[in-house]
Amino acid sequence: MELDVLSVDAWAERVAGDLVERLRSEPTLRLCLPTGDTPAPVYAALATRLEAGEASLEHATVVLLDEWVGLDPDDPARCDGRLRRELLDRVSPGPAAFHRILVDELAPEEAAARHDEVAAGGLGLTLLGLGANGHVGFNEPGSTADGPTRVVTLEAGSGEAAVARYGAKRVPEAGITLGIARLLASDEIWLLVTGARKAEILDQALRGPMGPDVPASFLRSHHKLRVVADTAAAALVTRTP
Ligand code: GLP
Repeated sequence: MELDVLSVDAWAERVAGDLVERLRSEPTLRLCLPTGDTPAPVYAALATRLEAGEASLEHATVVLLDEWVGLDPDDPARCDGRLRRELLDRVSPGPAAFHRILVDELAPEEAAARHDEVAAGGLGLTLLGLGANGHVGFNEPGSTADGPTRVVTLEAGSGEAAVARYGAKRVPEAGITLGIARLLASDEIWLLVTGARKAEILDQALRGPMGPDVPASFLRSHHKLRVVADTAAAALVTRTP
């Protein structure tokens, strides 16, 4: 595991710059992307750099990490809408393909199965955020390392966060997420973590027991895990024991 601790001011620009480098060296990269407050400043910085011609998504494929079930297509909290607003619609050309999760077109189980097939085509680089309860994607506590892509019942806090933090018009019924097994099959994973409120859970994820109580802890078993945190989120991890 590689741990990069960066200042709050430098964090997003650094991740965006590293993504530019990756896209330049691997233009056909298959990228799995999360949404949420953590990656938003990275996408803003990346969009600016892509628009300045530093690299392009033209030959890249973007696979969405997770999606709410039960929110209207235009709900502000929808993950697909958010990724479009924050990154994909801001760059031209856009990616060769954007694989959203087909929650409007298919029954949830079918949408999950279809998305799993997409991810089975390979993920070169997976970016992840960290939930306050240790989830990654919607792999809530109780998820296992071999967990499949599936429909999940959300913990109360995760559903309410859609309303309180992301402006959803109703509490979503469930979520669809790539399973931990698929995430671990990615060639490389960058776990993005910012803010003091994530310090305790990041410490548990990186230094606590590896197991279903903190699903993010399973990421430590990946051969190419990079954790990119700001100083506030990394406060406990970097403390000498
Ligand atoms: C959400 C999403 C995750 C996200 C995480 C952290 O519920 N399902 O994919 O990474 O919680 O969100 P944030 O970055 O807004 O703190």
